[in-house]
Amino acid sequence: MLALEAIFTTFPTLETDRCILREFTPDDVPAMFALMSDAQVTRYLGRQPMATMEEAAQRVDNFIHGFATQSHLVWAVVSKETGTLLGNGTLWNLIPEHDRAELGYILMPAAWGKGIATEICQMMVQFGFTTMGLHSIEAQIDPENSGSRRVLEKLGFVQEGYYRENFYDPTQQHYTDTAVFSLLVGNWRTRLIK
Ligand SMILES: CC(C)(COP(=O)(O)OP(=O)(O)OC[C@H]1O[C@@H](n2cnc3c(N)ncnc32)[C@H](O)[C@@H]1OP(=O)(O)O)[C@@H](O)C(=O)NCCC(=O)NCCS
Repeated sequence: MLALEAIFTTFPTLETDRCILREFTPDDVPAMFALMSDAQVTRYLGRQPMATMEEAAQRVDNFIHGFATQSHLVWAVVSKETGTLLGNGTLWNLIPEHDRAELGYILMPAAWGKGIATEICQMMVQFGFTTMGLHSIEAQIDPENSGSRRVLEKLGFVQEGYYRENFYDPTQQHYTDTAVFSLLVGNWRTRLIK
């Protein structure tokens, strides 16, 4: 059973080779708007690109509030080199009684194709399995999101479910499928040893 009080005491800042993963602040709202108003970014997220700064403010507020209410961990991913916000990563949909959470990641197009998603996801997975004490981590993707699928495969996630037309995408105005992946702590440890 996850010890939520211990996990949600002080926001866990993480560091990778190229990024700092830190708590969101209201100062991140304009960069959040730039991220989520980009149709390339929202293409496989099943949502319309943001149209107003207020939506970005609400999203950042939800991220900050989610830590205070022990609901979810959302990290602002910041480039060490430039200090700019590259996107966000999350461990959310926590199921404390099953030691399970869902992984999420969204980056600015300028940051794509450089291995950054893989780098930050490796760190979030490590944090989830070690500090948090998760037993399994799930990820759900639009099956057409090849980049996201590849990130998961590189981390050792295995596809174990497939829902047909379970998600109505308002941008495409049709129902999309969902591929469900997961990684178990035992498999993650074994891969580390290899
Ligand atoms: C999906 C996303 C996170 C990938 O980020 P990224 O930083 O480009 O990923 P990486 O550079 O770590 O790439 C990981 C692998 O995926 C591959 N890849 C990345 N984008 C790809 C694409 N569009 N098509 C096919 N493969 C792709 C890379 O080549 C790499 O594989 P390789 O090491 O075998 O060459 C990024 O495109 C994104 O933020 N998209 C918008 C939000 C989103 O869809 N998030 C996921 C929701 S489930």
